Amino acid sequence: MSVAITTEALVLDRRFSSEEYERYQTLIDACRSSGYYHRIVIEDAAGKRLETPGSHPCLGVIGVLDRHGFPQDLRGRTVLDIGCNAGFYSFVAKLRGAKSVLGLDHNQHYIDQALLVREILGLDVEFRCSEGHDLDDRFGKFDFVINTGVIYHLQNPMDFLRRVSQVTLDTMYLESAMLTDPSLTEYAWFIEGEYAQDSSNWWIYGPKCVERMVRAAGFLQAEFQGMIWAPPPGMLTPEGLELQSRGAFICRK
Ligand SMILES: C[S@@+](CC[C@H](N)C(=O)[O-])C[C@H]1O[C@@H](n2cnc3c(N)ncnc32)[C@H](O)[C@@H]1O
Repeated sequence: MSVAITTEALVLDRRFSSEEYERYQTLIDACRSSGYYHRIVIEDAAGKRLETPGSHPCLGVIGVLDRHGFPQDLRGRTVLDIGCNAGFYSFVAKLRGAKSVLGLDHNQHYIDQALLVREILGLDVEFRCSEGHDLDDRFGKFDFVINTGVIYHLQNPMDFLRRVSQVTLDTMYLESAMLTDPSLTEYAWFIEGEYAQDSSNWWIYGPKCVERMVRAAGFLQAEFQGMIWAPPPGMLTPEGLELQSRGAFICRK
């Protein structure tokens, strides 16, 4: 069985039977109450589609990350996807040739979503519910670590980055919310209260600040790949705060 990544969907080379399709649809719906983040579109060989109803348009975003240094070729690499959510980037890593992929997330309901998508795709990716602040080498060490969309959700990002550094053998791909104003590149903004209607948003960093944090955590270098997204000037969050950008880094041991 194979899976192809297109701009529209993860496309299977097999057809769902109608029982199978209904079962997957029911299981996807059953996870709605705990909330989806990843929107993963899966299409079978007959064009029948399944979709996880999240707000994060995974296929569009991987296209953007690809233009900002996300590797096309992960052949033979061991990969950790920390804060994997429903596992989209773990699946991409596997489809790009990774020897093994482990996705970790501290929310069991996201791991349940990842396990369901794994069953539909039939890919050999491991998922476990685990807290990033407990990360150590009991899970092994990894050639390549995907660390996207996580560090602004942490009150203590240095503890997390230090732990990630300790299990990274070669490269970490880091993506985060990022301060837009170039004059603030060396600074970070601590948010007390809500930003973008999400009380788990704690920090937004300037690019140079992240580079320094990554080096202090144990990486040799961090190369800013540029902003992957920027809001229109003057756009505000529902709380009236200035909406910030998102940026990516390639970080090497
Ligand atoms: C914004 S989502 C990003 C998901 C995915 N990495 C991506 O880029 O689409 C943040 C994810 O990180 C997970 N997360 C946040 N803090 C975490 C922690 N301390 N340990 C493990 N997972 C965490 C959340 O449960 C959520 O799935």
